[in-house]
Amino acid sequence: MISDKVVKQETRTNESSKMGRTTVLRLVDRQAPSILRSLFYLILVCILVLAVDVMLLQYSKNSRSNQLFGYDNMGMPQRRSRPSLDSEEDSRSMRRPMRHKVKPDPRGPLPSLAVPINRAYFESSNVTCRKGYARTRLQNLYGDRFDPDIPLFVDSSFLDRPNAVNLPMPFGFRDAERTVLNILKHMPQTEIPEDIPQDSCLRCVVQGNGGIASRTRLGEVIDNFDVVFRLNSAPTINHENDVGRKTTFRMAYPESAFRRPEQYDPGWTFVLMMFKPLDLVWLETIIRGRKMNSRDGFWKKIPLSVPKPTKDFRIFNPEILQDTASMMGYQLNDGKANKNIPTSGMLAIMMGVRLCDEVAVAGFGYDPNKPGAALHYYDSLPMREIWKSWTHDIHHERGILRLLKQQGIITDLSGGIR
Ligand SMILES: *[C@@H]1O[C@H](CO)[C@@H](O)[C@H](O)[C@H]1NC(C)=O
Repeated sequence: MISDKVVKQETRTNESSKMGRTTVLRLVDRQAPSILRSLFYLILVCILVLAVDVMLLQYSKNSRSNQLFGYDNMGMPQRRSRPSLDSEEDSRSMRRPMRHKVKPDPRGPLPSLAVPINRAYFESSNVTCRKGYARTRLQNLYGDRFDPDIPLFVDSSFLDRPNAVNLPMPFGFRDAERTVLNILKHMPQTEIPEDIPQDSCLRCVVQGNGGIASRTRLGEVIDNFDVVFRLNSAPTINHENDVGRKTTFRMAYPESAFRRPEQYDPGWTFVLMMFKPLDLVWLETIIRGRKMNSRDGFWKKIPLSVPKPTKDFRIFNPEILQDTASMMGYQLNDGKANKNIPTSGMLAIMMGVRLCDEVAVAGFGYDPNKPGAALHYYDSLPMREIWKSWTHDIHHERGILRLLKQQGIITDLSGGIR
């Protein structure tokens, strides 16, 4: 009897434990979605924490860079108030007490400037200008090989100018005359923009795109020039302290032009360097306010339209390219491009020398000993990329830039030309 009961009890407990196990399993089953849910919340919290971290980091970077603003001992006693130019961020950080006073910059020491410029002077209205200075010196150096009288921009008289049509693109407009004429029909202005006072002594600066421009804190010095050249799609936004805000001319070709509409803020003139016949097709479409419907034939993404009034467009005169290439000792190869095309930076300098009395440059110079250094001040391409260029002879151009600097034709503000 007893054994019988025990057996029954045992079976019962067995059954109940079996039942218990299934209940637990069922419970787990039922709880699985809520476990997933809590995992999801956990991940969400993690992301939020990360976001706050990044914001804090950004904040500390900002205050640090503002501290670095007056790093040189040449004097940067006080920032002049320039309300129209000061961004909200700047005024905010001026009110805030500076932090991280002793923390070293994780990016290493600031670059030393080869030219010990007096920032306070360069930023003030005291700065002087020597009439015809750069042009005369370039003439001394190259004599007749430098033609100072070439018009900067293409106008309908180009057909009468032998050097504008003697070679095909990019050195001239041979075989593309009709397209150029068509474009000019839609281009109301071809002369130097009215707001440039040509009768006064003009100080110009070409802001190059070199990595050396980052952390130079030359922004206010750049903005104090009469004319500021910028190249390709180099931004000013978020780099104002180093490269300034002012733009007078931006020189680019379709593949190097800004692609986002908001980057075409008003107030600057778009100088288009036309290197191949397809570039003219692009320009004709753009200037008639139409949209390109294909990117075929371009080697990089191009803007399909440009939100700028036609009065702000100019075509860079290829005669200047031809003149510069010859001056630099390049073979023109009946127009074939083969490491004989001066860079946009060099072309801007040569435009600057023709337009202005003094020419300064910033953000120029590549250091072949630092292949991993930053090529541009605004992206993370390494320096070694530039040496792959098949259109530019970077080594040769470096020598020319050195010569221009030695001869005082250009003033190298950031000291990268060595
Ligand atoms: C500008 O010139 C004035 C008058 O000569 C002088 O007092 C002032 O210190 C100069 N400012 C700078 C930044 O050189």
